[in-house]
Amino acid sequence: MDKNILEVKNLKKYFPVRKMGKKQYVKAVDDLNFSIREGEIFGVLGESGCGKSTLGRVINRLDFEQSGDITFLNNVISGKSYKSDKNFRKKMQMIFQNPYDSFDPKMLIYKSIELPMKINDVNSDAGSRINEIVETMNKAKLTPAESLLTRYPHELSGGQLQRISIIRSMLLKPKFIIADECVSMLDVSVRAGVLNLLLTFQEELNSAMLFITHDISVATYICNRIMVLYAGKIMEIAESKDILDNPLHPYTRALVSYSPIISKEEKKRFRITGEVVTPIDPPPGCRFASRCPMAKDICKKEEPILKEIGKNRKAACHFV
Ligand SMILES: Nc1ncnc2c1ncn2[C@@H]1O[C@H](COP(=O)(O)OP(=O)(O)OP(=O)(O)O)[C@@H](O)[C@H]1O
Ligand SMILES: [Mg+2]
Repeated sequence: MDKNILEVKNLKKYFPVRKMGKKQYVKAVDDLNFSIREGEIFGVLGESGCGKSTLGRVINRLDFEQSGDITFLNNVISGKSYKSDKNFRKKMQMIFQNPYDSFDPKMLIYKSIELPMKINDVNSDAGSRINEIVETMNKAKLTPAESLLTRYPHELSGGQLQRISIIRSMLLKPKFIIADECVSMLDVSVRAGVLNLLLTFQEELNSAMLFITHDISVATYICNRIMVLYAGKIMEIAESKDILDNPLHPYTRALVSYSPIISKEEKKRFRITGEVVTPIDPPPGCRFASRCPMAKDICKKEEPILKEIGKNRKAACHFV
């Protein structure tokens, strides 16, 4: 039996906002239940604002949940701050969209990589740290390593810096990685290289990964399973190939229809219109109902539960 590395139960994260003088809540992450197995790449897919980053930040303890439980490596991590817990930080690493935001602009690249190794007691002496950093840089085809390591972040390209941020995380040998849109800011020509680097390390360390993206092609290429989110709610969870070959939820179908391999006729059939909704004190019923081509009366009244449909598959729709 595969073991779970992460379990999320009834997780909620609401943000208070003022709308016409009244306090309301953006229900950014609303009652999510899922688990991730050791070594698994688990995708989180959905349009802008559906709660992907919020979910990643709460799991990584950069933000706090409203309620719910998160269990990581058999420890309950919800309800606690891990701000300066180096043991936790070493085990769970996060890679962000913009690499320039995750480096100190005034610190040499070499120092930026070495510091977390030092704090987390990876290699006890400076000499062996240098060796490992240079070796890993060479493996990532970031050469000549010495020249790149003695520069500042702004003296590197986005692709180079993102590779370095991946290296910096991987040198800590994390058990779990959260990658939040880690290639969406980069030039198309370097994306595949950066993704492959991430996958090489992930495989080598057998780390599990929460892979956040709005791009269905990237998600199905990389992930073992995919969770589709819409306005803070899970619409469907399935293995990647099922998501692509046989999407069940009307929202997943719409996302799949954006994929370049889908025929024109199918694109037309599943296309959705309208804007993504922001879940501010959302009305009852299915959050996707206002844009769903299949919606009936019941969808606006009753929220569909996420139900098991076959092996390794769940969907939340009255008509699936
Ligand atoms: N600090 C905050 N205060 C108020 N609302 C917030 C805050 N952070 C996020 N939100 C809201 O929560 C919802 C989810 O935001 P989130 O950033 O998680 O979405 P996302 O799926 O990562 O989007 P994107 O694809 O654009 O990165 C949005 O409606 C957003 O406006
Ligand atoms: Mg985001």
